[in-house]
Amino acid sequence: MAYRAVVTGGAGFIGSNMSRALLERGCSVVCIDNFLTGRRTNIDDLLDNERFELIVQDACEPIEVKAPIDAVLHLASPASPGTSAVSYLSLPFETLDVGSRGTWSALRLAHGHGARFLFASTSEIYGDPVLSPQPESYWGNVNSIGPRSVYDEAKRFGEALCAAHIREFGMDVKIARIFNTYGPRMRPEDGRVVSNFIVQALRGEDLTIYGDGSQTRSFCFIDDLVAGLLALLESPHTGPMNLGNPGEFTILELAGLVRDLIPGAGEPVFETLPQDDPKQRRPDIALAGEVLGWAPKVALPEGLGKTIDWYRAELGIG
Ligand SMILES: NC(=O)c1ccc[n+]([C@@H]2O[C@H](COP(=O)([O-])OP(=O)(O)OC[C@H]3O[C@@H](n4cnc5c(N)ncnc54)[C@H](O)[C@@H]3O)[C@@H](O)[C@H]2O)c1
Repeated sequence: MAYRAVVTGGAGFIGSNMSRALLERGCSVVCIDNFLTGRRTNIDDLLDNERFELIVQDACEPIEVKAPIDAVLHLASPASPGTSAVSYLSLPFETLDVGSRGTWSALRLAHGHGARFLFASTSEIYGDPVLSPQPESYWGNVNSIGPRSVYDEAKRFGEALCAAHIREFGMDVKIARIFNTYGPRMRPEDGRVVSNFIVQALRGEDLTIYGDGSQTRSFCFIDDLVAGLLALLESPHTGPMNLGNPGEFTILELAGLVRDLIPGAGEPVFETLPQDDPKQRRPDIALAGEVLGWAPKVALPEGLGKTIDWYRAELGIG
């Protein structure tokens, strides 16, 4: 099925992998990005492809793209919870803006063209969940004024906008609640735990663990996530759907796996846990299994191996 898709945030980690996957299946891609947190190097090699077009603009402003548009994927948003310059904690207003005005602008584009719409929401809308694993029916436990709220509440507002467009206009809108994803093209200084550990280990540094490392996360390899997003986009399903890998690992276990795969890595060192850091996050993916027949296939050691290979090349560490 070849179609023309607009991808906001197409130069980011997920967006650039998604753009590649769309091109591989014969689709045309219009990438909208202002490089707030994305990188031109993620898409440099796509610029020669006649089915790929880059429009450098803020997705919060009106987006004008010539017809036909069959699908709009709104992936633009800072996404890292760390303390780096590209984290949403460092970009609070930009994050609130792109989750609210940006989502509205992308929805208007899809509405105007009768296109289907996919919103990149997040497991963060569940906050610090009191229920595990989290099904789509869980309403979450979010601190609306904590530092992370700029991201969580922007995404919750984005979901509310999506739901209103389904109700008011009968639009074909999918809300992908994405859980922790990792893989090639995640920026090295991103600040998320997988990239932190790999980069520190490759440099022979100690691995920084926030808290005692007993908090758990589930990690989904990017190829699995992109396959799930495409299956959701191309399905008749509307509304929210969890996409992630339910395999649950403590941060200490993750550090151990990275140290096993990278000889010469340093020791785990412990720092204070950031405010509102969730203790546990694990998707219930029964709905994705029933509706899409989707489940992740790549086990964590295999995905880490592929990711480490990419970082070695990216950082020039042999
Ligand atoms: N990576 C994950 O584990 C994860 C988990 C849950 C949800 N998500 C969501 O998936 C989406 C992509 O995340 P990612 O990890 O690829 O992040 P990323 O930072 O690598 O990519 C985001 C892209 O959006 C662009 N962008 C940001 N604001 C913009 C704006 N106003 N106008 C135009 N472009 C803008 C950035 O420049 C970047 O290229 C985000 O919406 C994020 O919230 C990601």
